[in-house]
Amino acid sequence: MDEKESALCELGEALKADGYRFTTPTPETHRRVNARAGNERARNLRDVFGWSRPFPPDLVPAPMIALLEQAGQLDRGPAGLRSRVRFSTLDERLHVHSAYPTVEADAVFFGPDTYRFASFVGDHARDADCVVDIGCGSGAGGLSYAARAKRVILADISAKALSFARVNTVLAGVAHADVVQSDVLAGIPDPIDVVIANPPYLVDPQARIYRDGGGALGIGLAVRIVRESLARLQPGGRLILYTGTPIIAGRDPFWEAILPAITAAGAAGTYREIDPDVFGEELESPAYADADRLAVVGLVAESRSR
Ligand SMILES: C[S@@+](CC[C@H](N)C(=O)[O-])C[C@H]1O[C@@H](n2cnc3c(N)ncnc32)[C@H](O)[C@@H]1O
Repeated sequence: MDEKESALCELGEALKADGYRFTTPTPETHRRVNARAGNERARNLRDVFGWSRPFPPDLVPAPMIALLEQAGQLDRGPAGLRSRVRFSTLDERLHVHSAYPTVEADAVFFGPDTYRFASFVGDHARDADCVVDIGCGSGAGGLSYAARAKRVILADISAKALSFARVNTVLAGVAHADVVQSDVLAGIPDPIDVVIANPPYLVDPQARIYRDGGGALGIGLAVRIVRESLARLQPGGRLILYTGTPIIAGRDPFWEAILPAITAAGAAGTYREIDPDVFGEELESPAYADADRLAVVGLVAESRSR
């Protein structure tokens, strides 16, 4: 952990001590709420560290401003100071992630999908020696599994996500998590009992790493995760995947793409739509010209026991 990460840890601890809590909504809800008259500037710590609003220096305790500065996460603009990070609550844990709006190519995601993902994982978790969270982002999913695993590996391709995941591991008081840079499972040689993942699943013209799922339909990375996980899981191991797919003329191209891999691996499991209609505004983009809707789906696949 470097000095910047230590400063973020201290800031998170100070917010916890202050009783700070925040639930992150969708970007569209965030935009609407911030656009209301009177919400141009922050009035309390939730406005600063949750709603990402500009703030006057005397609103926030000086040590917190100093920590933001040490962490390299303080912006100074004409409207006032602004935090470049948000802090969000999931269960009783606090997670640092990127401020709204998440426009940078390497922004670190946390949102309603994170809450649904953690809930889906919780429904299907079982005690395990080694759990890997592929595309961990802030680490929220893997950290939610920590109580049931001897070891958790938080893996992501993004250096910034890994930096925030290290901070969140400390804030969660989890000592048995490793934070590892990896393209899917390529950087993880260890035997794996459980893989969990909430990968990007949209077609993003800006190719942001937290959002762009790859391929013409945004499902490329999720398909890779299914194939590579089934090839790597220990006998009887489990993949718990939360992702999204367009539904085109009533057909589910993600399910059609992964079925051969599931059949070939002899894996057993369940697949269902968790939410039939998310990110409706994306349907206006040319990439989804033929889509009826975007659905969030959950796959639980168990590799064959020897
Ligand atoms: C939608 S975010 C989800 C983050 C976190 N799992 C959550 O639920 O909040 C997707 C994450 O996948 C990561 N990612 C994208 N491509 C990846 C790859 N090839 N291998 C590993 N991680 C990847 C991104 O950096 C990002 O952190």
